[in-house]
Amino acid sequence: MTEPILEMRGIAKDFEGVHALSDVDLSVTPGEILALVGENGAGKSTLMKIISGVYPFGEYSGEIRYKGEPLQLGDTREAQNRGIAIIHQELNLVGGMTVAENIFLGHEPTSLGWVDRKKMRRDTQELLDRLGLKFAPDTLISDLSVGQSQMTEIAKALAQKVDLLILDEPTSALTDPEIETLFQLLEQLKRQGVTSIYISHKLEEVFRISDRITVLRDGRVISTWATKETDSNHVVSAMVGRDIEDLFPWRERPIGETILQVEDLTVEDPSHHRPLLDHVSFELHKGEILGLSGLMGAGRTELAESLFGVPPGKMSGRILLEGSEIRIRHPKDAIKVGIALLTEDRKQSGCLFNLSVQKNVSLASMKKVSSGPWVRLSSERELAKKYADELAIKSSNLRNLIGTLSGGNQQKVLVARWLATEPKVLILDEPTRGVDVGAKVEIYRLMIELAREGMAILMISSELPEVVGMSDRILVMHEGRVADCLNREEANQERVMHLATGAVSV
Ligand SMILES: Nc1ncnc2c1ncn2[C@@H]1O[C@H](COP(=O)(O)OP(=O)(O)OP(=O)(O)O)[C@@H](O)[C@H]1O
Ligand SMILES: [Mg+2]
Repeated sequence: MTEPILEMRGIAKDFEGVHALSDVDLSVTPGEILALVGENGAGKSTLMKIISGVYPFGEYSGEIRYKGEPLQLGDTREAQNRGIAIIHQELNLVGGMTVAENIFLGHEPTSLGWVDRKKMRRDTQELLDRLGLKFAPDTLISDLSVGQSQMTEIAKALAQKVDLLILDEPTSALTDPEIETLFQLLEQLKRQGVTSIYISHKLEEVFRISDRITVLRDGRVISTWATKETDSNHVVSAMVGRDIEDLFPWRERPIGETILQVEDLTVEDPSHHRPLLDHVSFELHKGEILGLSGLMGAGRTELAESLFGVPPGKMSGRILLEGSEIRIRHPKDAIKVGIALLTEDRKQSGCLFNLSVQKNVSLASMKKVSSGPWVRLSSERELAKKYADELAIKSSNLRNLIGTLSGGNQQKVLVARWLATEPKVLILDEPTRGVDVGAKVEIYRLMIELAREGMAILMISSELPEVVGMSDRILVMHEGRVADCLNREEANQERVMHLATGAVSV
């Protein structure tokens, strides 16, 4: 048996009384891809932060051996020098700087004491080519899509010599072709002897890419299997500690009258000959869950933004709410008339990291929790508590900063924020991204319950099983236009995919 490259024994870490990790043993063989899975808050990111020096020696208990020697890291820089690279769950790039500047931040190549910008650009171009990325080294991070930013993070990790590569949910923001490129890269790295630890909630990926799978639950290792010797049912039961028999709790419900009517909505794209949205028309009914499907660039997010008062270009067409035309020029107008939007990227536009969990919940419902200019903290806490309970948000104290929550729990807080506004129309853009199976089912149940109470829900999702499993009708978009709108009975994954790719209706 080969000696492990990494061996952890009895690792434990607490946060203010929360046992994030208890007595964790983990060993990783050189050149393997180990998948680490578990529910939101299971301790996956915390464990990886220990390996990568984010939590240095002394901030946890237990022992780590790396390449046959004890490992006692002082900081992340030291981890990098030892060949340990981590791609964090949340993006960590500087928006106002270029791709090249971000990749070489802190270790810029120099020549005669000056930063060698030419070399920096050249090396970046090489990395981008290797990853099949089409944007230039001089592109500003703020001009990249979420997926492109995530790929830049990966390029950044690979800019240095890597022996152990940790990927914490790398694909949650990637498109299918990007995921494909990443997997090919992981396999190539594996052939070169690089060891990877891969965290993901997407079991399909885990089964495709990993050699072994370790399940964490409540900070403990539950089991480890050779990937070939297990299946997703075993893994899911180990993750949630129970069997999930009903992933999509959709039930037949009465659908009400039309609440939102969109007519010929068109949004120009100044830098492109084709409009972002091209005469999009549809209706949304009370109590209905309308799925919105389409490939990247089909105009799904642009549609959501336009309905929320932030169209990405000059907009024309009509929007009617309960029969009368409305003009939404700002998210404030949208919130006022009862339209709420949960955006797809929590770090860039949703999550306010320097605020508490409860502030993040109450933010869009300030009127409800204040008297005049004063915020009533007790009402704020009550409001937050109500939704924290409903969504089973795992937080030891609602007054803690939202950054102390696990990624999936942060997503639930944002869902709570928009529910608290009690909207008539709730737009969810990728609501279950980065959310574990158990929590997904909770979000689905909640959607059904809200729809039953009469809320109209527009759900954008790139996960076909989710769209087909949860929608009453499915609006499929292709290149800015509505390709078709399918009833639940006539919809299946193949049919939606066909329409989304622009193939003729089947
Ligand atoms: N900085 C922190 N302060 C306080 N508590 C924390 C902090 N970081 C993590 N925790 C808590 O530790 C536990 C484990 O969190 P961790 O982020 O490791 O989970 P995870 O498995 O990565 O979940 P996810 O799938 O949602 O990303 C959670 O209960 C979380 O709230
Ligand atoms: Mg995590």
